[in-house]
Amino acid sequence: MITLNTPAPIAHAGILGLGVFRPERVVTNDEICLKIDSNDEWIQERSGIIERRHAGANEHVVSMATAAARKALADAGITAEQLDLVMVATVTHRYQTPSASVEVAAALGAVNAAATDTSAACAGFCYGLGIADGMIRSGVAKYILLIGAEKLSEIVDFEDRGTAFLFADGAGAVIVGPTEAQGIGPTIWGADGTQLDAIIMEPDVFTAERSGKPSVLTMQGQQVFRWAVGQMGDVCAQAMAAAGVTVNDLAAFVPHQANNRITDALIKQLNLPDHVVVARDIQYSGNTSAASVPLALDRLRENSEVKSGDLVLMVGFGAGLVHAAQVALVP
Ligand code: UT7
Repeated sequence: MITLNTPAPIAHAGILGLGVFRPERVVTNDEICLKIDSNDEWIQERSGIIERRHAGANEHVVSMATAAARKALADAGITAEQLDLVMVATVTHRYQTPSASVEVAAALGAVNAAATDTSAACAGFCYGLGIADGMIRSGVAKYILLIGAEKLSEIVDFEDRGTAFLFADGAGAVIVGPTEAQGIGPTIWGADGTQLDAIIMEPDVFTAERSGKPSVLTMQGQQVFRWAVGQMGDVCAQAMAAAGVTVNDLAAFVPHQANNRITDALIKQLNLPDHVVVARDIQYSGNTSAASVPLALDRLRENSEVKSGDLVLMVGFGAGLVHAAQVALVP
């Protein structure tokens, strides 16, 4: 039997750099409430959101992803030519094909990189980090650019009071590459396609095309809320156990910014000690799906609430339903 060669493995992988893009336009709860029967107090109390950012007409997933990527490359001290793979986690790229990643790679001049998107909704960044970690340690790639980028304002029905106030736009990027010691813990992930209808874009793109009625995001809010609170604590605990750490080793908890009440429930379930900083970027960014975890991590670093080498626990969860969690060291 023929035995095929495999690339030389790389011992350890970690996050080398981080960069984000936040659109300029701030959208207040009062502005959202012009189109739905709601109010600022209800939105803040039930979700934690004070304001969010919406991209402009000329901003889209590729432009936001590229801007975040440039900052991540500079932060890591890596050139675009050094990249072996560009991976964009998104559900709001304008084309079903080609991918956002090929456009981002071209815009950056990542001429040596392969490029592919990953579709795991709000778990997309944590999914991508797991994939990047495995690809580097197996020797398939040395430097990977992973970006979570979304323009959800494009697919939100602003007259739907279950979603209009929640979703928003932005991008967060990391460079993943070889490190002296392992900087990314094992990824605990999963998918439950039986709950397909819990968050879905409807009608499907082909029906939308034929009917001239655009697809919009619909969500069974309570169902998703119950699932997240019921399952994600255990997923986080598994991610820490798999990496051989406990809550006492954590500097920060960076959950997907879906709802502050979900975050509060997870803090309780995990028994997080007081010294663990908790990301609350949702207050100013809303829910940016695949971009939410890197955006929230960046805000903590920007505010000096975490520093390089600190251990953070991250968890993403959303449409699918899908989830992914891991611990990692801050670049
Ligand atoms: O990113 C992917 C993952 N997504 C999530 O994790 C989202 C999970 N879900 C949620 O965060 C929450 O379900 C929401 C924030 C979307 C909604 O909060 P909720 O506490 O689940 O609201 P609800 O749907 O249970 O509604 C409670 C009440 C109802 O009134 P009654 O029947 O108690 O009189 C609703 O009619 O609040 C009412 N309501 C609103 N009131 C003012 C629902 N939406 C609104 C609104 N403004 N926008």
